Amino acid sequence: MKNSITMIDNRTGKSYEFDILEATRGPNVVNISSFFAQTGMFTFDNGYTSTASCKSDITFIDGEKGELRYRGIEIEKLALNHSYLDVCYLLLNSRLPTEQESLEFDLELRHRSFLHEGLRHLFQAFPSDAHPMATLSSATSALSTFYFSHLEICKENEYQEMARRIIAKIPTIAAFAYRHSIGAPFIQPDINRSFTENFLYMLRAYPGGKMHRGVHGEEKIKEIEIKALDTIFTLHADHEQNASTTTVRGVASTGAHPYVAISSGISALWGRAHGGANESVVAQLEMIGSVENVDTYIERAKDPNDPFRLMGFGHRVYKNYDPRAKILKTLQDQLKDELNIDSNLLKIAHKIETIALSDEYFISRKLYPNIDFYSGIILTALKIPTSMFTPVFVIGRTVGWITQWIEFKKDKDAKITRPRQLYLGD
Ligand code: CMC
Repeated sequence: MKNSITMIDNRTGKSYEFDILEATRGPNVVNISSFFAQTGMFTFDNGYTSTASCKSDITFIDGEKGELRYRGIEIEKLALNHSYLDVCYLLLNSRLPTEQESLEFDLELRHRSFLHEGLRHLFQAFPSDAHPMATLSSATSALSTFYFSHLEICKENEYQEMARRIIAKIPTIAAFAYRHSIGAPFIQPDINRSFTENFLYMLRAYPGGKMHRGVHGEEKIKEIEIKALDTIFTLHADHEQNASTTTVRGVASTGAHPYVAISSGISALWGRAHGGANESVVAQLEMIGSVENVDTYIERAKDPNDPFRLMGFGHRVYKNYDPRAKILKTLQDQLKDELNIDSNLLKIAHKIETIALSDEYFISRKLYPNIDFYSGIILTALKIPTSMFTPVFVIGRTVGWITQWIEFKKDKDAKITRPRQLYLGD
């Protein structure tokens, strides 16, 4: 049996043959790269629902089963047993680090977390009420002006250096963007703190590095807070060819600077259909206000004439429970008492989830809670301001974007991204 598919043009009876490329996991792929040459027509796939845009061995999702793997390892194992930085190492190197490699990676990132003074001054040019995502995207783009020689990199150590630098600096840029948005002085990274603790520190500390000087003395960042945020970073680390990653690959395909590609990914992530949903979930729960109002909003979500959507529900790929949401739901239950999670928000969220999981509208469309449904509630409990929810997603996802960028650059068959169109004008 030939490993191909035959397509017949019913107008002419002419047949065309296309090879099937075999996947190691998940659906096989029909290679239609000769489609135009053979038929003189393009294919149309609105929103790319049936299109594989690249070959990759980084992340695997089985949307029907609700399965997610980084470099072949299940997300549940990684979230439970490994730190976010070990997951970064895994994505970049295709294997988990040894204890020594893990220590060295951590240390290098601590050293690289500082920003060039010139970049620090850039923040003053932005209006103080700018959304941190806008500042974060702009400042990340500006990073390319400081590391220009990296435009033509092609050696493995250069890729690694460029990746480590951006992963280390993004939390600092994000924290500075927030401090600027509230008119507070910047807090420099503390070399003695881990990656995840440092981010919380840069958000919370007072000048001089003190965390809190109330009647109760200094308030320490709790281990449980660090663990929770670290898990959130891990769950966001990569998610194959989503909208922002596809944007990063598209910019990479033109040969532009890697940090500009990351900045474009940040901009794409900002929208509420993508990473911006975590901010919208909490805003929506607050708007619903109490469990008594939930039914009204569920009815609105089901009304085809109402644009209202339940934020944190549905996913292009997952037609089952988002495995990341499952992990966060468990984490949320564990943290409920220790982190003083807002019980009213929890009650509203619980009622929405219960109704949605038993309602025909949501069942027939396979709309399950996604990662953003729970991350917002946990981030609120971590006292992270709502405007920083999507920047938190950015911090986690930077490693995914840069790993995908490197994979694209190393692909000898990679071409500039240049789709065509169905022209309907004059
Ligand atoms: N609330 C109510 N109805 C919904 C929702 C929702 N959240 N999501 C999808 N639907 C309905 C939609 O109206 C449509 O119904 P019908 O077939 O009657 O027209 C059907 O479900 C299919 O929706 P779609 O928009 O064609 O599906 P999509 O795969 O293009 O969109 C999505 C996926 C995530 C953009 C969408 O589900 C959505 O807008 N969800 C809310 C925003 C959200 O939570 N985004 C975060 C995604 S996870 C984080 C990330 O990876 O970025």
